[in-house]
Amino acid sequence: MSGTGASPRPAVVAGNWKMNHGPADAVAFARELELEAEGVAEVLLFPPATSLAALRGALAERGLSSRVGLGVQNVHPAERGAYTGEISASLALASGAGFALVGHSERRHLFGETHDDTARKTAAVLAAGMTPILCVGETLGERRAGRLEEVILRQLDHVLTTAGVSDRLLDGSRFYLAYEPVWAIGTGETATPGDASEAHAILRSCLIDRLGSEHGLDVPILYGGSVKPENASELMGAPEVGGVLVGGASLDARSFSAIVQSGS
Ligand code: PGA
Repeated sequence: MSGTGASPRPAVVAGNWKMNHGPADAVAFARELELEAEGVAEVLLFPPATSLAALRGALAERGLSSRVGLGVQNVHPAERGAYTGEISASLALASGAGFALVGHSERRHLFGETHDDTARKTAAVLAAGMTPILCVGETLGERRAGRLEEVILRQLDHVLTTAGVSDRLLDGSRFYLAYEPVWAIGTGETATPGDASEAHAILRSCLIDRLGSEHGLDVPILYGGSVKPENASELMGAPEVGGVLVGGASLDARSFSAIVQSGS
């Protein structure tokens, strides 16, 4: 469950498979997934776009379509056109994705995505009627230099200012946020629950400031970075932590199921 300060809502447990699991592995995953009853954690999966259809079909076979939300890991900001190799939000939506990760640190650091790119992608995802999960986070160098607040607020603020988030929320769209310290992603190094709460509280006050208290309190803030079954429950119990975004440990259906259970 989300911690104090946030509105009472189920914890969000999201799995980002990154560039892993083709259609056959996605089907095997769906068959092994063990989910408890309805209405507990909100479960989301972000497979490679090429595995969306297979995963969607396998979840439907198990009667889990309404229990597990699907998303893509990236979109192009344009709606259509000559952008070889890219996928627009509307194409993702038509393939069954209701969510999209935006600004994941691997996109920012390996593919050079700028603040403007993340803002344009967020706007495109919202315009398509999908829910973006904007990822923000500082590097180890930035944290050591005492720049945590400046860095994560700049990443969030630019999107809130230029992607029309406030207007979209008034129209009924949803906006999720994930705090993922870069030094904790794929490293086995996890932020302490206190570290996560501190960063989430900074983000929460910016959300309230910019979106008003009703919408600002409603945005789930997920923690991501080396989340696993052993630490998920403690992290999700921390104040302001509204769920987790899981990379490596989401590849195995049993370990992902155990993390979902921790959020229930
Ligand atoms: P990790 O990845 O759980 O493997 O650290 C998290 C993420 O990149 O979202």
